[in-house]
Amino acid sequence: MITEPRGSAKVVRTISQNEHRQRRQQLATEIGNDGVLLLPAAHEQLRNQDVHYPFRQNSDFLWLTGFPEPDAVALLIPGRSRGEYVIFCRPRDPERELWDGRRYGTEGARRHFRASQAYPLDELETKLPELLLGRQRLFVPFGRDDAFDLRVMRWLRSARSQARTAGRCVPTELIDASELLHPRRQIKTPAEQQLMRQAAQISAQAHRVLMQQVQPGLNEQMLASAFGAACGEQGAPEQAYPPIVAGGANACILHYTENNARLKDGDLVLIDAGCELEGYASDITRTLPVNGRFSPPQRQLYELVLAAQQAALTKARPGQTWETLHRAAVQVLTRGLIDLGILPQDTRSLAKRIKAEDYKPYYMHRTGHWLGLDVHDVGNYRHNKRWLPFEPGMTLTIEPGLYIAPDAAVDACYRGIGIRIEDDVLITADGHEILSQAAPKTVAEIEEIISA
Ligand code: GLY
Ligand code: MN
Ligand code: MN
Repeated sequence: MITEPRGSAKVVRTISQNEHRQRRQQLATEIGNDGVLLLPAAHEQLRNQDVHYPFRQNSDFLWLTGFPEPDAVALLIPGRSRGEYVIFCRPRDPERELWDGRRYGTEGARRHFRASQAYPLDELETKLPELLLGRQRLFVPFGRDDAFDLRVMRWLRSARSQARTAGRCVPTELIDASELLHPRRQIKTPAEQQLMRQAAQISAQAHRVLMQQVQPGLNEQMLASAFGAACGEQGAPEQAYPPIVAGGANACILHYTENNARLKDGDLVLIDAGCELEGYASDITRTLPVNGRFSPPQRQLYELVLAAQQAALTKARPGQTWETLHRAAVQVLTRGLIDLGILPQDTRSLAKRIKAEDYKPYYMHRTGHWLGLDVHDVGNYRHNKRWLPFEPGMTLTIEPGLYIAPDAAVDACYRGIGIRIEDDVLITADGHEILSQAAPKTVAEIEEIISA
């Protein structure tokens, strides 16, 4: 861990600048001396008038540079004699800094972020095209942001006109930078693993705090706010996504974010919330009885989802895939739904019923997703039509659920119940580590904490 002075403030980062430099060196080898990588930082987004949404750096840019400011552009130019890593960023500006906060400036970008060269943003249009000269292949994200695509084309046009007199080539091949970056982002380094472990522990502790607070009559918003406060108090003020606090049948809306209803005695409340720590996400769901006791039907469904999660967890090891993990969960859920009479008995085999997706009305999402700098992290699930085998260092969620709509044609006692149990998992050499282990999830544990 290093501390970076920035004006009078200290910025503490777990991912060291050495690690960022190693990432760039590895990429430079892969790109080769005929290529160049160009990556944009995120921009501030207006919410209204002159008020912005909270700024979040672009994940690829953050992974490569660690540089936290908007509007910057980074280039990686392998083998360049004057330095491989060039950054354009906002210059120091006492007037703007007085209003909007501190900036590193070009000097800070060199000193703290190891840029070989740093230029102010207003030199972008004149200097950047020149940096593309002599390179045949341009690695750049495209097809995501129209305005950025246009800028890239403009820089290429300008480089081309310079190339005619300079007698040097310009990139003729465009390669989506995600092809290069995302497979690397998918395998987490030990420092990243540690950060994700910490993020998950903070969120797990915040879920525990909510278990101590939940009670009938409370507004969903109270729990959402308490979650943010509990994370902030532990040093993680950002959330990885808008929290979902869904009482009763609201839990059957998968991405419910209204979070403004009162919790009712006898209902469950589904809480899907996770902090972000230095850019890395956690993503945990717990489902709690509002009054501290699961009713028998709630408990039947809860134990079923928990059993499905346990089955999926047995597949969280190298060599297994996202698909085998999902199948394990679906098998337990389908069997259980038949046993409870929620799915009617019929003559087809379990395998046939799974193939026909009989479970889909009650379980309509996949059992997890990659987790990292993005909550739904980058990286393929399939490659060349084959499911990608898990490897040590991959991180994912395992989150089976059941959602019985209020008007479902099933026994009334099950209607309006939504349950999800979600944990964050790191694939290790011999299995997995549950990063969110500290969030209680058995019926006995949950009932004890709420009732205490
Ligand atoms: N919180 C979003 C998800 O569980 O995927
Ligand atoms: Mn998730
Ligand atoms: Mn979630």
